[in-house]
Amino acid sequence: MQDHQISLIEDSFAEVFAAKDDAAALFYERLFVLDPALRRLFHTADMAAQGDKLMQALAQVVGSLRALDATVPVLETLAVRHVGYGVKDAHYAEVGTALIETLSLYFGRRFTPELRAAWTEAYGIVAGVMRAAAAKATANAPVGQGGPARPHAVAAAPDRG
Ligand code: HEM
Repeated sequence: MQDHQISLIEDSFAEVFAAKDDAAALFYERLFVLDPALRRLFHTADMAAQGDKLMQALAQVVGSLRALDATVPVLETLAVRHVGYGVKDAHYAEVGTALIETLSLYFGRRFTPELRAAWTEAYGIVAGVMRAAAAKATANAPVGQGGPARPHAVAAAPDRG
């Protein structure tokens, strides 16, 4: 990413973080409107605490954009934990959409095409690292534990995204 794109993200995120409770609530609202089935992945009743984790994680990711290489192993481990939460590859696109919608609603007209492009690119990079690690972990897992599904299992699988 270009330096000025990272600066745009850092500055805009600082503003969002200052209103993190509202921003997190807005994010989950958008996410569950996009895909109501995702609700069941979040076992925790405490969405406020979950929102806090999300904003802390975003803060870490935003803070590491200038040294992304060093963060790759952290993202990979995070991605493998997400496989355990039941997160599937397609969910990354939904979360990306919910994130961009949240920012767009939050900033309104100040969410310029340039700012949108910077956030879209950053999320794409982070999600790309996580998706690759998740795919690798899933491919290596034994059948029935998130590993390659047998043909019958595919047909019988409930709609979990
Ligand atoms: C940039 C991508 C993402 C980041 C940085 C991120 C970050 C986090 C963090 C920090 C946690 C706390 C637990 C832990 O550290 O393992 C978490 C939990 C979780 N995330 Fe994500 N996440 C991302 C993408 C996603 C996606 C695509 C989904 C799919 C809907 C998702 C669903 C969940 C769920 C279900 C939990 C566990 C909730 C519980 O405690 O029951 N995340 N995430």
